[in-house]
Order: sequence, then structure tokens, then C-alpha cells
Amino acid sequence: MIKDMVDDEATQATNDDASECKRHAVNLGYWTDPFINFFVRQTIRKPPEINRGYYARVKGMEYFIERFLKLSDGKGQIINLGAGFDTLYWRLKDARKSPQNFVELDFPSVTAKKAYHIKKHKQLIDRLNTEDGEIKFSTTDLHAADYHLIGTDLRHISELSNKLTQAEVDFNSPTLFLSECVLVYIDSNATSFLIKWLAQKFPNSLFVNYEQVNMRDKFGQVMLSNLRCRGCLLAGVEDCESLETQQRRFTINGWEGSSSWTMVEIYDSLPESERKRIERIEMLDERELLTQLLQHYCIAIAWNGPMFKNISIAHG
Ligand SMILES: C[S@@+](CC[C@H](N)C(=O)[O-])C[C@H]1O[C@@H](n2cnc3c(N)ncnc32)[C@H](O)[C@@H]1O
Repeated sequence: MIKDMVDDEATQATNDDASECKRHAVNLGYWTDPFINFFVRQTIRKPPEINRGYYARVKGMEYFIERFLKLSDGKGQIINLGAGFDTLYWRLKDARKSPQNFVELDFPSVTAKKAYHIKKHKQLIDRLNTEDGEIKFSTTDLHAADYHLIGTDLRHISELSNKLTQAEVDFNSPTLFLSECVLVYIDSNATSFLIKWLAQKFPNSLFVNYEQVNMRDKFGQVMLSNLRCRGCLLAGVEDCESLETQQRRFTINGWEGSSSWTMVEIYDSLPESERKRIERIEMLDERELLTQLLQHYCIAIAWNGPMFKNISIAHG
């Protein structure tokens, strides 16, 4: 029990690391995010290959988010699993691309901090839609008309189900699930249960998952031991063995289809002019190291219903 709590704390701390790395890359000009600074004070200096890796991660996720928004014609909802301090809600709002509803889920200790930052910064709270001018707060949760921040443990489905109902989620609307470096921290059985439940409940949905892959080789083993040194158990790592295992966990748990790409493929699919721009920000001594890093992360997608069938990356 105490061991689980220590592990959960280490998992929650991975959000600080991701947010600090993102802030650092944003400040260097890799991509624009006017909101990240409201959530994170510190930046961690990271080598260029890490910054490029984060760039590929953010732009890769954005590519699928854009596809979802276009295909659902603004009538869908986004549910971000293990959202941490992600700023997507505010970025979409400024780009006038908001979906009808936006739900963020994370451990209560993380959502409490996020709720605190939202309350504290006018630039964040003023962008929340309020039909009747009311935003409901508790210590860990926040509900506005089209935004819901919810503290919950993704391993507890009955609580999750209640919380999604409170967040006015429409189970029949087109739904995008995002999970960015989250499932690797959750026990594989619990993830299977979650994925299966989502497949049953949301017949018209797209799941976009970013996380580690090819964890069996030497480079993968070093990555895992670095993460374990920080106290993370990595209970879901068996599904990160290969692109096939990443896809299989969806297809054996009720999703109609799935595709996946390593981040090498995703990086190469990004617009060439943009790649050239960011490659000028910092010199890379060893290109090989970036390639190795990108080979060990992937984006896997899965879909239910005809709307999101066979989405792929752009080529050329
Ligand atoms: C590496 S961080 C990523 C945060 C965010 N998705 C991003 O990419 O910036 C992983 C997040 O998953 C959350 N998480 C992991 N296991 C969870 C669980 N069982 N229930 C809720 N959240 C969880 C952590 O608290 C943390 O915020």
C-alpha cells in the first residue's frame, strides 16, 4: 500500500518534468504556447535532441487533434487522460477551434495544482466559457460550461464513470481520447480494463496514445532504468514492447482498428519548412542520438465507428 503511494507520487512528478521540458523548448522557440508559463515556473535545460523530441511529440499529437476536429466538424468532445498541465484547451480556444466539451483527468493531487493555477491567472480563467457566468470549484475539480478538470484515478472505472457524467460527457458524440506518456505508468490489466470500457461506452471515438516503444533493446532498457531510478514502477511497460503490442492492446479490447508509427516516421511527416526552421534553433552534434530517441517513442491510434477509420500520417 505504502509502496503504491510512493510509486503514484513518482508518477505524478513526471508531470513536472514534462511541463518543465515543454516550457524550455517553448522558450527556445520550438513551438508557440502562450499558456505554459502560467503552469510552470522552472525550466530544465535539456540537450537539443530532447527538445526536438518534445517538438515531434507536440506536433505529432496536434496533427491527430486537427484531424479529429476537422472530421467531427467542431461537434465533438476531447477527453485528455493524465492531462497533467497540458494547455491544449487554451490553445484551441485562442485558435477558435474549441470542441463542444473538453475534459481533463489526472490524479487529484495534480488537478488540485492545475485548478490553483487556473484560478490564479486571469489569462486562463477568463478563457473558460461560462453559460451562466458560473464556474464550480472544489479543491481538486473545476467545472465550466465547456471545460471540466477532474481529479480521479484512471484505474478506478466506477468513479471515472460517475465523474464523466458530472462533466456532461455525451457518450454518443464524436470523442477524442488523448494520453501522452500516461499508460506506461498504469498496470497493463487496469489499462486493458479502461480501454475496453471506453470502447464499449463511446461507439464513435478516436484514441491517440503517445508513449515509449521498442523497450526490449539496449537503448530501451537504459531508458527504463533511468525512469525506474526516479521511483516509477512502469507497470504498463509490457505494452510498449513494439508497435504491434501498442496496437494489439486496443484491438483485443474492443476497438475496431488501430495504427501506429514510431516518432521517426512522425518527425519525417511534419512539414519540411517547419523541420528546417527548428533544426536551425540548436546545433545537433550527433544526429544518431536523435534518431535513436525517436525510434523509442511512438504514436498509436485506435478508432471506433466509421468517422475515424484509417486515419494516417501525411506523407511527403
Ligand atoms: C508524464 S506525465 C504527462 C502529462 C501530460 N499528458 C503531458 O504529456 O504533458 C503523466 C501524467 O499521467 C498521470 N497519471 C498517471 N497514472 C495515472 C492514473 N492512474 N490516474 C490519473 N492520472 C494518472 C500523472 O499524474 C501525470 O500527470
